[in-house]
Amino acid sequence: MESKFKEVSLCVFDAYGTLFDVHSAVGQHAHALGDQAQTISMLWRQKQLEYTWLRSLMGRYVDFEQVTQEALHYALQTYSVNDAALEQKLLLAYNQLISYTEVKDTLKQLRGAGIATAILSNGSPNMLHAAVEYAGLTDLIDQVISVDELGIYKPDPRVYQLALDGFGVTKNEVLFHSSNAWDVAGAVNFGFNVAWINRFSQPSEPLSKAPDLMLNDLHQVLGTLEILPI
Ligand code: LAC
Repeated sequence: MESKFKEVSLCVFDAYGTLFDVHSAVGQHAHALGDQAQTISMLWRQKQLEYTWLRSLMGRYVDFEQVTQEALHYALQTYSVNDAALEQKLLLAYNQLISYTEVKDTLKQLRGAGIATAILSNGSPNMLHAAVEYAGLTDLIDQVISVDELGIYKPDPRVYQLALDGFGVTKNEVLFHSSNAWDVAGAVNFGFNVAWINRFSQPSEPLSKAPDLMLNDLHQVLGTLEILPI
């Protein structure tokens, strides 16, 4: 194993975009939104993230459920979709996101190799537990850690510290995974070993030094950690 990772005993995962496909919420109701479905989904996600950063800067935390609802409302208004029932359905769909195909097997293999697993996410505990259960991941994740206990969002360094506190480990024992480039920058800035799961071949953000690994999907982590298939 590459010496840098030989002490890794805990794999930490971002949730939305990394384990779960956030656009699968709109995907479930795409027919109702027509040609604007994809654009609305992109704007929903963009506003959701913006609101977390803005609220953190203003010291005006509300939980991710509310942020997600307010971002959705903004996105729908932008495209003149005034349908309260559809809005409610889209919000509920966020608890039933599709997980990326390799997620379950990767978690299984990590656990089989004696590596602990955790989610570290902006999501509120209710949202995260619903998504984890829907995706059938409940028995494959040791801890689901939410920023909610801190009342501030990623990429505040205190958020990444929660994973160390939750497991009583040091930074060199952790490999953090995210598909969100800005979250990758936050985790690198904190001092984690970081794998950028760059699913959509996005350019890097000029916010931190490069992550340790850039992979196309989570399964490739197994090779890096020299975990043999079970
Ligand atoms: C998460 C979002 C930001 O923390 O992707 O899960």
